Amino acid sequence: MRPALAVAGSLNMDFVVSAARLPAPGETVTGHNFHTAPGGKGANQACAAARLSAGRLAVRMIGRCGYDAFGDQLKAGLAAAGADVSGVHAVRAAATGVAMIEVDAEGRNSIVIAPGANAMLSEADMEQMRPVFAASSFVLFQLESPMGTVAAGLRIARDEGAETMLDPAPARALDGEMLRAVDVLTPNESEARILLGREPGEIELHEAAEAARALLKLGPRAVVLKLGHQGAFFFDGSVELFQAGYLVDSVDSTAAGDTFNAGFAVALAEGKGVAEALRFACGAAAISVTRSGAQPSIPSRAEVENFLSTRA
Ligand code: RIB
Repeated sequence: MRPALAVAGSLNMDFVVSAARLPAPGETVTGHNFHTAPGGKGANQACAAARLSAGRLAVRMIGRCGYDAFGDQLKAGLAAAGADVSGVHAVRAAATGVAMIEVDAEGRNSIVIAPGANAMLSEADMEQMRPVFAASSFVLFQLESPMGTVAAGLRIARDEGAETMLDPAPARALDGEMLRAVDVLTPNESEARILLGREPGEIELHEAAEAARALLKLGPRAVVLKLGHQGAFFFDGSVELFQAGYLVDSVDSTAAGDTFNAGFAVALAEGKGVAEALRFACGAAAISVTRSGAQPSIPSRAEVENFLSTRA
């Protein structure tokens, strides 16, 4: 049997507008491009895990969508990427989740989501997935599902012997009980600052080790601090590793963090070491920011291997 990886989380249809800059509150700016693209942090991670493992892992998505065209498109896209969508159930009480995304000229975004059916992924669903978690080496979670669901999923996956990875996005403070069920916590800079009760802002490279140490004290077994174009910093209480980011022309950073998480989990699930997993994840994320849209931007494994073969 192939090793397996499961993702429990959101599926959204993204409505994306590009503009020279993001509007301030109350302001209207004229954009220059509009498209829809499959997204949602959970679905992006499942799509990325399937593309990046290229059949070496059985990837399963667990989530909720509506009985509507967006739900059908999102499931079909994931299946085409190679993910098993039998754990994505449609509900009648809500529409498929959507995200309104604005992207500026430097590839930065702002996102508002309407969770819709994602809000109906329940603790009972997590309990039902116990056998799936038991068969998975990694189970990936994010915070676009109800908090009780994420907490139950983490606990059950941990009970069943899977490694748990939590992407604490969208950013919010989390309790210690939830964080103690996390094997790998993967915040970006602003998520890390919010988890630590600090003002939102950036984390400079020279501050990364201190921030990672402080995050580890909150309860996870390891922390990967995602530092955007600067790279990523890993700390598990004994090993400290830094991978510099790859310099690329950024078009759209949407789903770069999701691509990173999937790449890191796929590499570890395949038995690679942490240093190699960080490099693979940073390479995959770097390629994703050179392209528009969430799932359309996620590279294949061959693209990442090719990209990394040209970098030190
Ligand atoms: O992480 C990027 C994702 O966040 C987008 O695809 C959007 O759907 C939101 O969930």
